[in-house]
Amino acid sequence: MAVNMKGKSLVSINDLSLEEMYQIFETAKDLKRRHLMGEPHRILEGKTLGMIFSKPSTRTRISFEAGIYQLGGIGMYFGPNDLQLGKSENIHDTAKVISRYLDGIMIRTFSHQDVVDLAHYATIPVINGLTDLLHPCQVLTDLFTVLEKKRKLQGLKWAYIGDGNNMAHSMLYGCSKVGMDLTIASPSGYTPNEDIVKTAKEYAKYMGSKIEITDDPIAAVKNADIVYTDVWASMGQEAEAAERKAKFARYQVNPELVKNAKDDYLFMHCLPAHRGDEVVNEVADSENSVIFDEAENRLHVQKAVMALVM
Ligand code: CP
Ligand code: NVA
Repeated sequence: MAVNMKGKSLVSINDLSLEEMYQIFETAKDLKRRHLMGEPHRILEGKTLGMIFSKPSTRTRISFEAGIYQLGGIGMYFGPNDLQLGKSENIHDTAKVISRYLDGIMIRTFSHQDVVDLAHYATIPVINGLTDLLHPCQVLTDLFTVLEKKRKLQGLKWAYIGDGNNMAHSMLYGCSKVGMDLTIASPSGYTPNEDIVKTAKEYAKYMGSKIEITDDPIAAVKNADIVYTDVWASMGQEAEAAERKAKFARYQVNPELVKNAKDDYLFMHCLPAHRGDEVVNEVADSENSVIFDEAENRLHVQKAVMALVM
């Protein structure tokens, strides 16, 4: 039975039920097929999506903007200096005003609380396009990509090697909710948020899967179906890049490390990749790598989210 998601915001995967997650995957599969067959699917004819970006973006910006056009709507881009928001206007007033003009808002910014507040005050759906804490659209896309490639999610082992950042946090929610085993290997001082780990462990227990946090990348990758990494210094952490590079050296995803994974493991990365740091070309460009299918799927999954909530 289809669940009605109209009007719902997507701030965190933690706010989605398992039924809603699979509804997004089913809708994405259908929209991808229609797009590839050239079948019109103008489900959001005449609707407007506002896209607020306080940080740079290639995938999120282009896939949301192309996606809303393909659905028959239009996208309006607002860069860091375009709105009064954060300068002479607060989130409450901004949310109330733009809700009168638009049909949906996608926002990428620093503070996660700002997105929570925007969704609270807005009367239209708000979609989180990345905060310092979470990146739900990316992880929904990653799960959809694994489902396409492996035909299942439950029972697979996902290893994430690197910083306990926004990607790690959304993976904790996403993998635990669908019953995948997730092992995160991070250096001490860079482990994921403990409250999120605790919540994920509760979901995993319910689903009969395991969440493990370790500092050992080899143990994490052992028998993994998915080996995932992300940049060592995220947007906003540029000043720490050199220090992080030294501390994360042992966490590079290279041919030696992936020998420990299953032969048919998938290499995944949200991109942008800093090749030579967290991953080397021999892995990123190997037959196991699905990074560009993963990037493409941002389009299909976000179109599904927009079609369902707007
Ligand atoms: N993966 C991702 O969100 O990429 P962009 O920063 O290019 O949007
Ligand atoms: N952790 C990265 C993800 C980029 C998509 C960042 O926040 O910069």
